[in-house]
Amino acid sequence: MQRANFSRVGFILAAAGAAVGLGNIWKFPYMTGMYGGGAFVLVYLITILFIGVSLLIAEMLMGKMGGSDAVSSFEKEAPRHKWAWAKAGYLFFIGLIIMTFYSVVIGWIFYYIYLTLTNSLPSNMEDAQNIFNHLYHNSWMIQVILHAISVVIVGYILQKGIKGGIEKFNLILMPLLIVILLGLCLYASTFGGFSKALSFLFVPDFSKLNSEAIIRAVGHSFFTLSIGIGSIMAYAASLPKSANIFRSGLWVAFLDTFIALLAGVVIFSFLFEFGSEPAKGPGLVFMSLPIIFVKLGFVGTIVALLFFLGMAFAGLTSAISLVEPTVMYLERRKGISKKVAVWGSSFFYFAIGILMILSVSDGFKEYLMIGKKSLFDAVEFAVDSFLMPLGGILIALFVGYAMNKEAVKDALKDEMGETIFKIWYFSIRYIAPLAVLFLSYNALIS
Ligand code: PHE
Repeated sequence: MQRANFSRVGFILAAAGAAVGLGNIWKFPYMTGMYGGGAFVLVYLITILFIGVSLLIAEMLMGKMGGSDAVSSFEKEAPRHKWAWAKAGYLFFIGLIIMTFYSVVIGWIFYYIYLTLTNSLPSNMEDAQNIFNHLYHNSWMIQVILHAISVVIVGYILQKGIKGGIEKFNLILMPLLIVILLGLCLYASTFGGFSKALSFLFVPDFSKLNSEAIIRAVGHSFFTLSIGIGSIMAYAASLPKSANIFRSGLWVAFLDTFIALLAGVVIFSFLFEFGSEPAKGPGLVFMSLPIIFVKLGFVGTIVALLFFLGMAFAGLTSAISLVEPTVMYLERRKGISKKVAVWGSSFFYFAIGILMILSVSDGFKEYLMIGKKSLFDAVEFAVDSFLMPLGGILIALFVGYAMNKEAVKDALKDEMGETIFKIWYFSIRYIAPLAVLFLSYNALIS
């Protein structure tokens, strides 16, 4: 099979593109608002530094050494454990499950781009809520169409493959996103709300930190770095032999964190400047921000357009990485053509995505509940609290215990040096698995 398809920068941008997504621009700011700011941010940063980066490097290592899809990598890298570990490779499938709602949310962004272009963003909270709720609960047909558009764009890029599609797309969109956010940040720095935003995000107030906030911060750091579902593994499988995993891992984690913080600073500067409450929940980006954009008149329209475009780009680059592991598996292990692999996977999550949309739509939602939750909420919850942590723990245990220590050391010690390697290995064997167990256990009992 073909190897060495990515250039080094291409890989870092593609992996960063996978990591930077709706998690950074939509979820991180609203959760920070919900859980009180600085202290939440601090826990998130500590987790990224001590657990996230280690797992990210472990997953990259598996991808590079395996050079293929997740199932093959698990088999190849610990042949003695073939039977037990081969099954672990099927974690790639979680990506398609995430896509059943992720693609729907990308559809919402398209809708807000449309509202911006037609000058119909809401100008007060009541309108904002009506527009969002109407889309969410009463417009299933529109949502299905927007979801379909997202499916087609993602499928089209995937079909073009690593070099022609994924790398090229990320090489353009990632820098563009950073430029958009930096531009918005520069603009926001002229506001009085800017310094308030900085202290809200970076001065921790520990009285606001409860155990739920800690669990959510830890869980989010997994989600945001795309750990544990084989996305990073699939991308790293196409790395040149000379690529430095340690440095790439640090870069990806840095870019991901930087963009989340940048998005946070921008959004909270706008909110504080124009007097909105930060604790608005998932509607933060879709409800509070548009009102502010409208207040700013023409400039606001431009800012809104840039912001939603940036968000759509971030979402799409992550979406690609969510589907690629399945495509890679079908192509390499099942010998299915790329075209059929791409559109077959796309059809799968498209169809279930429709059920997700219906599960929150008036008239249908009664039939699509799991317990007290809508299918949409149940799947989102399961992904965050169990499926991704499960993937993370499998990778940690696999690299820490099933893989040959000497092989792992050989692959990394020149890049890391002896001391950092020891710390990293300790983290993979003990800290990461225990932390993930703690997270899942607490999510289960909460
Ligand atoms: N990290 C992406 C985000 O922040 C989501 C994602 C998870 C992408 C897992 C790929 C794999 O939105």
